[in-house]
Amino acid sequence: MNKQITPYQNSAGKKVQVAEMFDNIAGNYDFLNHFLSMGIDILWRKKAIRLFKPYAPKMILDVATGTGDFAIESLSLNPDKVIGVDISRDMVAVGCEKIKRKNLGEKIELKYGDSEELEFESNTFDALTVAFGVRNFENLEQGLSEMLRVVKPGGHVAIIEFSQPQKFPIKQIYNFYFNKILPGIGRMVSKDARAYTYLPESVGAFPHGKEFLDVLNKVGYNEAKAIPLALGIASIYFASKK
Ligand SMILES: C[S@@+](CC[C@H](N)C(=O)[O-])C[C@H]1O[C@@H](n2cnc3c(N)ncnc32)[C@H](O)[C@@H]1O
Repeated sequence: MNKQITPYQNSAGKKVQVAEMFDNIAGNYDFLNHFLSMGIDILWRKKAIRLFKPYAPKMILDVATGTGDFAIESLSLNPDKVIGVDISRDMVAVGCEKIKRKNLGEKIELKYGDSEELEFESNTFDALTVAFGVRNFENLEQGLSEMLRVVKPGGHVAIIEFSQPQKFPIKQIYNFYFNKILPGIGRMVSKDARAYTYLPESVGAFPHGKEFLDVLNKVGYNEAKAIPLALGIASIYFASKK
């Protein structure tokens, strides 16, 4: 399970390689993300944020925040404070610029932070979000258990991650797009040829559906459920802390 797929073939650990890769593509990330997904990633974040509505969270942590899109989306919950953390300093820098441009600095703070070693006290946040981040963790269970530690009892966690659709013809279309089209466009636009071949490889090796729910349960998440998105291309995992 979770075979270690790394961006590059060098001796650095996965975390160092992942940070380097996202530093390399930070300048093009937002454009490529929305272009390659045809904007559907925006709808997925909105749908995940709606799951928190009944709980009206006031303190929110967005892990692997990148350029801050999930953190920004969570403002629709009217929280007091949103903190976003990421190990790529260049992604955070692009995100900080965006927050400044949108005048959201009073509510949102983005900074360097590692999911596997969070700087926050236990039981700090009412809600925690991660979009397309957990697949990149060097130590998945360590990251997930650190996330759970900083959530308050009764708080909730939403994780969006790619899945592997199983049904004809979505499976075939998805595999063709992910393996043939996307790496070509990614190579042309971003400065990192490897980033968009790492994407399908890392998705292929990552647990999804029941297998990922098993990991969440093992780590101690409560009431974990999977909500498939776009015929199984991605999933929202929603869980609480006892
Ligand atoms: C595909 S981007 C997703 C960014 C953002 N969440 C979004 O929805 O656009 C994945 C991010 O995970 C970050 N990341 C990977 N491992 C991490 C870790 N251990 N702690 C914090 N961030 C991490 C990467 O640096 C990268 O910015």
